Amino acid sequence: MEEVPGKTDRESHGVICGTKRPVLLFIFLPAMERRCVSLLIMCGIVGYIGYRKAADVLLDGLYRLEYRGYDSAGVAIRDLREIQIEKEVGKVAELDNLLKSRNFEGTQGIGHTRWATHGGVTAVNAHPHCDSQSNVALVHNGIIENYLEIKEDLEKEGVTFNTQTDTEVVAQLLAKIYQGDAVSSLIRLSGFLEGSYALVILVREIEDKIYCIRKGSPLVLGKGKKESFCASDVPALLPYTKDFIYLNDGEIAELSQDNIQIWDSSGQVLTRSSFHVDWDVSMSDKDGYPHFMLKEINEQSRVIRDSLLERLQDDSVDLSAELKWSHEDIHKWKKIHIVACGTSYYAALIAERLFENVTECDIRVDVASEYRYRKLKSGPDTLAIFVSQSGETADTLAAERKARTSGACCLAVTNVPNSTLAREVDHVLLLKAGPEVGVAATKTFTGQLCVLYLLALYLGRVCETLSKNKENRLVQELRILPFKVDSILEDHLLIRELAEKYANARNFLFLGRGNSFPVALEGALKLKEISYLHAEAYAAGEMKHGPIALLDPEVPVVVVIPRDELYDKVLSNIQEARARSAPIIAVATSGDQYIGTNAEDIMWIPVTEQEMNPFLAVIPLQLFAYYVARYRGCDIDQPRNLAKSVTVE
Ligand code: F6R
Repeated sequence: MEEVPGKTDRESHGVICGTKRPVLLFIFLPAMERRCVSLLIMCGIVGYIGYRKAADVLLDGLYRLEYRGYDSAGVAIRDLREIQIEKEVGKVAELDNLLKSRNFEGTQGIGHTRWATHGGVTAVNAHPHCDSQSNVALVHNGIIENYLEIKEDLEKEGVTFNTQTDTEVVAQLLAKIYQGDAVSSLIRLSGFLEGSYALVILVREIEDKIYCIRKGSPLVLGKGKKESFCASDVPALLPYTKDFIYLNDGEIAELSQDNIQIWDSSGQVLTRSSFHVDWDVSMSDKDGYPHFMLKEINEQSRVIRDSLLERLQDDSVDLSAELKWSHEDIHKWKKIHIVACGTSYYAALIAERLFENVTECDIRVDVASEYRYRKLKSGPDTLAIFVSQSGETADTLAAERKARTSGACCLAVTNVPNSTLAREVDHVLLLKAGPEVGVAATKTFTGQLCVLYLLALYLGRVCETLSKNKENRLVQELRILPFKVDSILEDHLLIRELAEKYANARNFLFLGRGNSFPVALEGALKLKEISYLHAEAYAAGEMKHGPIALLDPEVPVVVVIPRDELYDKVLSNIQEARARSAPIIAVATSGDQYIGTNAEDIMWIPVTEQEMNPFLAVIPLQLFAYYVARYRGCDIDQPRNLAKSVTVE
């Protein structure tokens, strides 16, 4: 057996079982040649073993996971000894149609809905994949970075491949390694694989079990009476169980009708208790709305109300039940880092302004993909806050690991209890948004903002850097925000008309200042991600430094201009845009007498404290994006090229 330079580190992690090297002969090509062709995949997977028709459970789960991937789908179902595989290009509905004609009776199986940015979207490339003898069938979420190396070595040993996927390589490799004991075979398999994976596996000769293994990609296990489940995310299983176990990196699970057994990466049996989720199954249904996004936009007043529950005492914020911090802990933090991606990052940028007003800490907000590679000075004097709806975003997790290593106190603000982020950090503040299914984040943005505001107010109070008067004023305003949010939602038909008027524009500029600047960023992001229109957002004062060159009568400018201390400045920026004949769409505060003569169209928001404007100003922008996308006939809940959880870098 040839020793392979550079590979011994994987062995030293103990993932290759026993005293012998794996049976395959590996000759490695230079890493660079191989990496450049790796696939970028985020998918939904589900597995079932029990007494129901597996096809029904799998399809139901796949529909609920479709937000994770929707270019092809497939299932493998065990009927007696045989494993039957069916796959179809397109959405889960296409697979559903196909399965109607098959009428599978089997009560165990695995399913997959795929999302790929590279690599052919074909039925052959869809999952499940199996080895040449159909001894194992598996579904995979993640990327196997060294799959070409493994493939070449397997080809040298005579294995032929049917697909271009990294996943078939895993199936072929596992079949080669397998010698009768699934758990030790999976431990050996993980020794070969570089990258991220959640794998759910049927082994032909093990008739009453399903196996799972994960590294880097999420996988949740669910237990019912005489049935067991697994899936990429909790909402897939809500109709069947509310009790879940998260599989940790490196762990292996064996699912049978009566039991779930878990091993760590060295083969030690683990005891794990389950956690209960109080999400209702209707939360993951459309509830009569045409799209999840619209339903979720309309849930935002409820999200604010729920976020405040048990976190307020009279007119003060009290998070001591959730955050077991001593005064000493809190007083030692001189720096606050807030790290997130996408919409979560914009929520963080808004909150940054409140943190800097009510605490004396040095605040830094960064996108996780940058933070993780920067040479920042964090340490025990740092509170590092990671904001992530899913709690599974790869960059955010990497940033959190970096901060944790530096000795910073790490706090997660997440919607998903027991997500990887929630499990890794020192402290957690949960959003009370319920599952968010639309790919475009809406209600979780509001939930994040709410929780971050509560945290800022709490720290300000404990550190005595926030006056009692200001705290009371802001808390009272938080309490009445839900009514104000609802009043904007009631005006949705006006926003719908505006959307129709502007749906044919090709380019938009979004402007705002102060805490309205991140709102402009979020408004532009919503528009581009679901309507595929070009939308750029700028701090309004920056317009004259470049973007003003873009303006002409064909470029609508959406200006977030609530009544606040920067109002006059933004009004001047509007004049600059009007001088270039750009149509102005303003998001303005009711009662504003000047805006009517300065804007073609206005989306009104109620009067509020200036700190609270973002909660209100974002709502018309979400609705505007939603209706523009609808007029343009876009796939709103599942926009092209996007997936809900970005579990790869
Ligand atoms: C946009 C959107 C994304 C996410 C981003 C971070 O509508 O949903 O920009 O905000 O991918 O995701 P989480 O919050 O799950 O870390």
